[in-house]
Amino acid sequence: MKALLLAGGKGSRLLPFTRTMPKQLLPVANRPVLAHAVEHLRSVGARDVGVVVGEWGRQIRDSLGDGSRFGVRLTYLRQDSPDGLAHCVGLARSFLGDDDFVVYLGDNLFKEGLEAPARTFRERGPQVQLTVQPRPDPRDFGVAVLTPGNRVLRVVEKPDHPPSDLAVLGAYFFRPSIHEAISSIRPSPRGELELTDAVQWLVDRGDEVTAVRYDGYWRDVGRVEDLLESGRHYLEGLTPDLSGALDAESSVEGAVEIGSGAKVMRSRIIGPVMVGEGTVIEDSVVGPGVTVGRDCHVRAASIARSTVLDGVTVDGGDGFSGCLVGPEGLLACQEST
Ligand code: G1P
Repeated sequence: MKALLLAGGKGSRLLPFTRTMPKQLLPVANRPVLAHAVEHLRSVGARDVGVVVGEWGRQIRDSLGDGSRFGVRLTYLRQDSPDGLAHCVGLARSFLGDDDFVVYLGDNLFKEGLEAPARTFRERGPQVQLTVQPRPDPRDFGVAVLTPGNRVLRVVEKPDHPPSDLAVLGAYFFRPSIHEAISSIRPSPRGELELTDAVQWLVDRGDEVTAVRYDGYWRDVGRVEDLLESGRHYLEGLTPDLSGALDAESSVEGAVEIGSGAKVMRSRIIGPVMVGEGTVIEDSVVGPGVTVGRDCHVRAASIARSTVLDGVTVDGGDGFSGCLVGPEGLLACQEST
């Protein structure tokens, strides 16, 4: 099975952080969201992965490379204008050939991976398999209506009045029949070729289109609050690892990972906390629920329930909680739930 990882998109809901980097390279648990995605694709047996990129193509290529460090081969495909998810699949037509493939949206996190849905797809053998999950308010997503046997009766993109609570998640399993559907649909009212419409086209033709419910932790990290919540969620399973240096005047409580080359001086670290390689923390209280990136400098600060991006300096201040902290004083804070 091949894979197509969609990593275009502007990330406008994550401005100003996405002024200098694409949303798919923002970190969760100190790894770019896209790196989590490539790993999951590898573990479902996809070794040949096409990455559709837009204006951030160079940064994404610099981050993921040729894929060899993940054990996959990455082929970069350029989408010149944001014409929709189905358009991305269309432009990858020759890369995909007549193989089965999985489309993975690069801003989606599937914490427990995709092995279970991939297995169901192989066993049941439908033309399309969606992954779905009940959401309290699915209006920002595709929404699916299923039969009791998990056949898809209907799928609608971002409906004002959702016909069910089942959001369509960003992992779609396809057979080559989807290509005919994509060349048959027309742009939606927002001017994009929607994958949802291509799937509905196959449903209308009577093809077997199914869905599996994803029981694991899933988020679309297109908004600051989702990125922060994902970061805290990933910290819950943290394995303590004190590779970095801790001086005698510092203390550590709970699950804490201090990356190699990091230094903690005269500080209190309250787990779960993850500190990236090469970071220096001094005279500070950090945690709980904090991820500090690589090569950061945190001085005389108090930080809880937050994510600090790579290379950021935090110097003093009143302390913050529930914030995404970027370079040059960029800060977005949320009311946490
Ligand atoms: C896209 C899809 C939508 C799906 C969502 C999952 O929306 O169009 O059907 O539910 O991803 O993250 P977007 O995030 O591009 O608005």
